[in-house]
Amino acid sequence: MGAWSGLTAVVTGASGGIGEQLAVQLASGGARVAIVARRRDELERVASRCREAQRAAGTFGDAAGEAVVVIPCDVSERAQCERMVAEAVRRLGKLDVLVHNAGQGMWSRVDDVQDLSVYETMLRVNYLSVVWLTCAALPHLQATKGRILGVGSLSGKIGVPLRSGYAAAKHAMTGFLDSLRIEVKAAGISVTMIHPGFVATGSQARNLGADGQVLGQMPRKVGGMSAAVCATMLLDAGHARRRDVVPSFRAKLALWLRLVVPDYVDASTARAIMGKP
Ligand SMILES: NC(=O)c1ccc[n+]([C@@H]2O[C@H](COP(=O)([O-])OP(=O)(O)OC[C@H]3O[C@@H](n4cnc5c(N)ncnc54)[C@H](OP(=O)(O)O)[C@@H]3O)[C@@H](O)[C@H]2O)c1
Repeated sequence: MGAWSGLTAVVTGASGGIGEQLAVQLASGGARVAIVARRRDELERVASRCREAQRAAGTFGDAAGEAVVVIPCDVSERAQCERMVAEAVRRLGKLDVLVHNAGQGMWSRVDDVQDLSVYETMLRVNYLSVVWLTCAALPHLQATKGRILGVGSLSGKIGVPLRSGYAAAKHAMTGFLDSLRIEVKAAGISVTMIHPGFVATGSQARNLGADGQVLGQMPRKVGGMSAAVCATMLLDAGHARRRDVVPSFRAKLALWLRLVVPDYVDASTARAIMGKP
């Protein structure tokens, strides 16, 4: 029996990157999953991987609902978020795990931004979606004493140049989920976040630039941990109902140093992002 056997999960941003890994690993662990993003063709590809993982796992515990559910949804729209949660619960039969992973980055200096709607997009995709989805899902998670998992970012803990709107939205997401954790503890619901630095998904090429359009290519060569390892770390912590994970020693050190020598952390963040002091 897998660690997630008998449980159901909704994973947003599951059409690629970290979300794909989260969905496949949950399915391997025996969960039934609803996978959510805008690109249906990519979701169908991930759904096949999830079904294969479930077959390999051998069982998914109760069979009261569908094993893999594909739900195209733009999480930047409140009505779509609410409809998606209702559909997921109807087709899965219940909801045990809500994974907030969908995200969209930006890459531009503040004084270069020509299209200020970039900031609104950052908030809608990275923060408001988390509020809308959580509020729609809470009654169902109360019934199962469920889990909320969130893919935050190191940018949700410290300021990062060229990423002001993204960092602001990830700070908001972190503040919301940290506050929610305290409120829902008595109901038996846990809230777990991961705060990675760079993860090797190529997502920076999908960042919005100064003109509000997707960059289309990597703005800078960045390394980072693998999406599979990031997903495993979040799922392990979420399963154990731990509060959060900062996945690398370097990131942990940065958070600690920021309390004592914040200017030093600013300078090394500038070097990491812009390649200069
Ligand atoms: N990669 C990194 O370096 C890194 C570091 C720290 C944190 N993170 C966070 O990790 C999460 C996943 O990132 P990733 O690297 O896997 O990025 P990715 O490969 O670009 O995947 C992003 C996912 O989010 C979905 N998405 C984006 N906008 C959406 C919208 N409006 N509605 C529904 N789904 C949407 C995308 O699907 P569709 O395009 O099909 O909608 C895709 O499945 C994000 O929250 C990101 O902020 C990433």
